[in-house]
Amino acid sequence: MFPSSRSCVQGSSLKSLVTMLTIFVVVALFLQASFGIRTSRDIVYRAPNVTSPKIPLAVFQVEAPLRESYGVAACQQVILQHNFAASYGSPYVGTYSPPKNCSFTTAIFNMSITSIGINYDRLGLLFFGDIEVWRTTTAMPVRTGIYYNFQKDVTAFDTLLRSEQKVIMQLDNIYDSVFTGNYNVTITALYYNDHDTPTPADTILPISAQLSSQNQSSVLSLPDGNATISFTLPRNVARAVVSILASGNGAEEFWYTNVPTEYDDTFNNTAIYGYSPWREVQLLIDGELAGVGWPFPIVFTGGISPGLWVPIVGIDTYDLPSFEIDISPWLGLLCDGKSHTFALKVVGYDSVTTFGTVGSNWWITGSIFLWVDSDGNQTTGTTLQSTIAAPSFDFIPTITTSSGLNTSLLVSLSAHRTLSHTSTITTSKGSRTLTWSQTLSYINKQNFTALGYNETLYQLTSGTSSYSPLISQASTETDIIRNTYNYPISFTQQYVVPVDATLMNSTLIAELDRSKLTSEIPILSYLTKPSIFTTPAVLATRQNGSCTYGWNNTYYEFAGAIDPAIGTIGATEQWFSFERPLESGGNEYGRHVKAVDGYVPVLTLDEVFGHTIEVPETKIVPGNEL
Ligand SMILES: *[C@@H]1O[C@H](CO)[C@@H](O)[C@H](O)[C@H]1NC(C)=O
Ligand SMILES: *[C@@H]1O[C@H](CO)[C@@H](O)[C@H](O)[C@H]1NC(C)=O
Ligand SMILES: *[C@@H]1O[C@H](CO)[C@@H](O)[C@H](O)[C@H]1NC(C)=O
Ligand SMILES: *[C@@H]1O[C@H](CO)[C@@H](O)[C@H](O)[C@H]1NC(C)=O
Ligand SMILES: *[C@@H]1O[C@H](CO)[C@@H](O)[C@H](O)[C@H]1NC(C)=O
Ligand SMILES: *[C@@H]1O[C@H](CO)[C@@H](O)[C@H](O)[C@H]1NC(C)=O
Ligand SMILES: *[C@@H]1O[C@H](CO)[C@@H](O)[C@H](O)[C@H]1NC(C)=O
Ligand SMILES: *[C@@H]1O[C@H](CO)[C@@H](O)[C@H](O)[C@H]1NC(C)=O
Ligand SMILES: *[C@@H]1O[C@H](CO)[C@@H](O)[C@H](O)[C@H]1NC(C)=O
Ligand SMILES: *[C@@H]1O[C@H](CO)[C@@H](O)[C@H](O)[C@H]1NC(C)=O
Ligand SMILES: *[C@@H]1O[C@H](CO)[C@@H](O)[C@H](O)[C@H]1NC(C)=O
Ligand SMILES: *[C@@H]1O[C@H](CO)[C@@H](O)[C@H](O)[C@H]1NC(C)=O
Repeated sequence: MFPSSRSCVQGSSLKSLVTMLTIFVVVALFLQASFGIRTSRDIVYRAPNVTSPKIPLAVFQVEAPLRESYGVAACQQVILQHNFAASYGSPYVGTYSPPKNCSFTTAIFNMSITSIGINYDRLGLLFFGDIEVWRTTTAMPVRTGIYYNFQKDVTAFDTLLRSEQKVIMQLDNIYDSVFTGNYNVTITALYYNDHDTPTPADTILPISAQLSSQNQSSVLSLPDGNATISFTLPRNVARAVVSILASGNGAEEFWYTNVPTEYDDTFNNTAIYGYSPWREVQLLIDGELAGVGWPFPIVFTGGISPGLWVPIVGIDTYDLPSFEIDISPWLGLLCDGKSHTFALKVVGYDSVTTFGTVGSNWWITGSIFLWVDSDGNQTTGTTLQSTIAAPSFDFIPTITTSSGLNTSLLVSLSAHRTLSHTSTITTSKGSRTLTWSQTLSYINKQNFTALGYNETLYQLTSGTSSYSPLISQASTETDIIRNTYNYPISFTQQYVVPVDATLMNSTLIAELDRSKLTSEIPILSYLTKPSIFTTPAVLATRQNGSCTYGWNNTYYEFAGAIDPAIGTIGATEQWFSFERPLESGGNEYGRHVKAVDGYVPVLTLDEVFGHTIEVPETKIVPGNEL
């Protein structure tokens, strides 16, 4: 929680220049040995015990390569090259043309970004027409420069990649004498011909603002906007999936640290936001709940403590996760040739009305992926059988007061929900029972002490989402693919802020431990390449870090300017273990990295394995056990 980080901006270009020169000397002294080299198949890469930082600095997200090798692309092309400087409200607009004379079955986008100067982390949204293809957040730059690149498999969007598209990228950046960091973005499309026969969606429809014709980003902002849109679907759809991208930004960036609204004034300041720490993203079809997402608590590179994320950024930072809802059980209704509404909503817990609104802004878009039955005239279905249990909540608040002042607030909120939709759907291939079902659990416990300046948080979101396999792959009529997820997060934040911040430095002491644990056959990947995605992808990754972060009111510290003189020092460690079906080999991957954070971050350990690794469990920070 950074009450001051988004609003108060101070500093001067002269000060930045002086500091930059000083730091250049310091960094130059550290610039010596380079990274190690490949050794065995087992440990593919091991850095020496301490490596010196390079200029510019590689700021990376730990992720498994998408392929064993990127080397044999059938063709490739740059689809976007743009320097986002003063880009607030001015998205990049360009044109995508499919590669000429190039057969491909897999498409990967490689996003490469360089930045130098001071700035916040910024949100970047890439649209093909009205459809959002990639949502990313940037690393924070440092004065001596950073770079990174990240790859995303976009084969699910195949139908868009085979015709001309308007490319729109929104990356709202402030660029002036204080915020001197630009974001220079290059996206290259790599096309591979893997000799498999993919079955990507035939049509993709946008649940978005549909503003590409006006050269604008089509993102919708909730709760202030209206994310309701109507479509008349083709009458012969065989399978339909809605993919949703939703992120809390602005007052909702740290939604998981919020409290029910009646407690947001507990400490007589604005440090705590309302609308509860629980969020549900809903998809409604004709006003009925089709499915939900309880979001992964993404931590952007300025989050919890900016010092934790140089040079290792948070889980999923460069590729914000979407979540998918299989709406195939609805096809009997949706293929009737009439118009139907699709609506997206974000709700919080309200102790009076159960569901309440949320703060600004949830940036959201949805894409409806449709596979048509080319031999069929009209898909029909039996009446949808639905069971939707409203979530059950348990909320317990405790306030401690001393001399008429609230000194501490302990809140605990838990929630549980199940839903399912089933129908027998008939296409030209026959009749089949299709089911979508979800089970979700959530617990959040927060302990605010020291008049709200100290906080500990523990949150666990977990659940399963289940869908029916393709008829060609089902062993029984009721066969089901069950995906599971677990997102534990635990942290402490202690703000030591002087009464007069113009005279004294401030400090934020933070500790963080969190994991992402999933076992899934992602539905879009599965429907796009059913013959490959038959066994689950199993991911276990954990980040553990601590950081003491210093700043003062005359020197702008939050935007990537970590200063050892003020005493910023931290360490971040990450374990990453992944096993998944992959057409090009190398289906197991492990990595273990450790960094000393600070103005001159140092990678102290970097091991890459050609197999999965043991990932220790997230530890709940002391004083916040369940
Ligand atoms: C298309 O690609 C093939 C194989 O690379 C090549 O033999 C052929 O000459 C190309 N045709 C054109 C029109 O470029
Ligand atoms: C992605 O782009 C960067 C910058 O051009 C390049 O260094 C990197 O090798 C590319 N990655 C792949 C997989 O092509
Ligand atoms: C941005 O990156 C491109 C590609 O590397 C480079 O040609 C261009 O000069 C860069 N622009 C700026 C302003 O740094
Ligand atoms: C959109 O951008 C293109 C290319 O820059 C331009 O030709 C077109 O006039 C713009 N359209 C609108 C509505 O601004
Ligand atoms: C949102 O838009 C839909 C469709 O245009 C409309 O029916 C609905 O009343 C709107 N809702 C709000 C809250 O404005
Ligand atoms: C103490 O907290 C309660 C609940 O948030 C709030 O209503 C009350 O105004 C607070 N008291 C003071 C003195 O701030
Ligand atoms: C609450 O904060 C306001 C504004 O900072 C201040 O005027 C007021 O005296 C404070 N109230 C208490 C009870 O501390
Ligand atoms: C589709 O409609 C055509 C023309 O009405 C008809 O000949 C054909 O049998 C129908 N096919 C199916 C699968 O119903
Ligand atoms: C709050 O954190 C500060 C800094 O770590 C610590 O000195 C203080 O004891 C903490 N206060 C409480 C009530 O835990
Ligand atoms: C704030 O930090 C700057 C840069 O390190 C330093 O020059 C200045 O003296 C500091 N101000 C205070 C009040 O400590
Ligand atoms: C605040 O930190 C700066 C370094 O940026 C240091 O020069 C200054 O002495 C510190 N001020 C105090 C009051 O400790
Ligand atoms: C809340 O935090 C305080 C200060 O760290 C600690 O003394 C207390 O035991 C914690 N309460 C709970 C219920 O964990």
